[in-house]
Amino acid sequence: MQRNSVTYILGFCAVICLICSVIVSGSAVGLKERQEVNKVLDRQKKVLSVAGLMKEGDMLQPAEIQTLFGKRIRAVVVNLETGNIDEEATKTVATYDQQKAKKDPAVSKSAPKNLAGVQRIPNKAVVYQVSKNEMGEDGSGFELTQYIFPVEGKGLWSTLYGFVAMAPDCNQIKGLTFYAHLETPGLGGEVDNPKWKAKWPGKLAFGALGSDPKSWDKVKIAVLKSGGDGKDHAVDGLSGATITGNGVTYLLRFWLGDDGFGPYIQNVAVRPS
Ligand SMILES: Cc1cc2nc3c(=O)[nH]c(=O)nc-3n(C[C@H](O)[C@H](O)[C@H](O)COP(=O)(O)O)c2cc1C
Repeated sequence: MQRNSVTYILGFCAVICLICSVIVSGSAVGLKERQEVNKVLDRQKKVLSVAGLMKEGDMLQPAEIQTLFGKRIRAVVVNLETGNIDEEATKTVATYDQQKAKKDPAVSKSAPKNLAGVQRIPNKAVVYQVSKNEMGEDGSGFELTQYIFPVEGKGLWSTLYGFVAMAPDCNQIKGLTFYAHLETPGLGGEVDNPKWKAKWPGKLAFGALGSDPKSWDKVKIAVLKSGGDGKDHAVDGLSGATITGNGVTYLLRFWLGDDGFGPYIQNVAVRPS
C-alpha cells in the first residue's frame, strides 16, 4: 500500500488511536485502586493539617500520615437531620463517600435555597474528632480537643471544598483549610495563603451563647471586605476577591447551620457555664 495514500493515513491514525485508548483506559482501570488510596491519604493529610498536626511543607511518608491519623483522629458518621452519630455507618467510615452519597437520591435530599450554592445534602456526613494525645488501637485514651467538619460551597468560578476545625465548644474556630477549588491564583486562590488562614484561629462562629446550644444565635461568622481584624465574628477579606470571600461566609453559615451540622453541634457542644 502507498504510504501517502488516504487509506494508509486513515488506517495508521486508527491504529494509533486504538493503541492510545487501550493504554489510557488500561492505566485508568489499573491505577483506580491506587487513586482511591491516594484520595483517602490526601483527605487524611488535609484533616491533619487543619487540626494543626501537620505543618505547611511537612513531607510525611504515606505510612506516617496513616499512623498519625489513626492515633489522633476519630472519624464518625453523623445523621445530619437528627444530629446523632450513626454507629452502624461509623463502622465503615473509612469507605463512606459523602460526595457519592449526595448524588444518590436514596441517601440524600435537595438542599433548600441557599447562598452557598449547595444543591444536595447527604443524609449522613463525616465528622472528625481530634484527640489531645495518642490513642490506643481500641480508641482508649481519647481526649477531645477539636471537631473537624467538612464544608463546601460556591466561590466565583468553582465549588470550594474544605474543612473547618472547631474547639469542643463548637463555637471557637481553630482553623479553616480548602483542599480543592478552582478560584483564580492570586485572587480567590488566596484562600490557601497561610497568612489568610492564620486569621481564622480564635474567631467565633456563633452569636450570643446561652447555656443551651439550642438557644444559640444563628451562625454569625463572616468574611468582611475589610475591618474583620480584631472582631470576634469576622475575618478580613481577600483584596480583589470579594466574591470568593462571600462564598466562604455562606458556606460556613450553611454547614454550621440548621441544614448542615447544626443539629449535631447542638447535641455535642460543650455548654458555656
Ligand atoms: C480574570 C479574573 C479573575 C478573577 N478571579 C476572582 C476570584 O477568583 N475570586 C473573586 O472573588 N474575584 C475574582 N475576580 C474579581 C471579581 O470579578 C470581582 O471584581 C471581585 O470579586 C470584586 O472584589 P473586590 O470588591 O474586592 O475588588 C476576578 C476577576 C478577573 C478579571
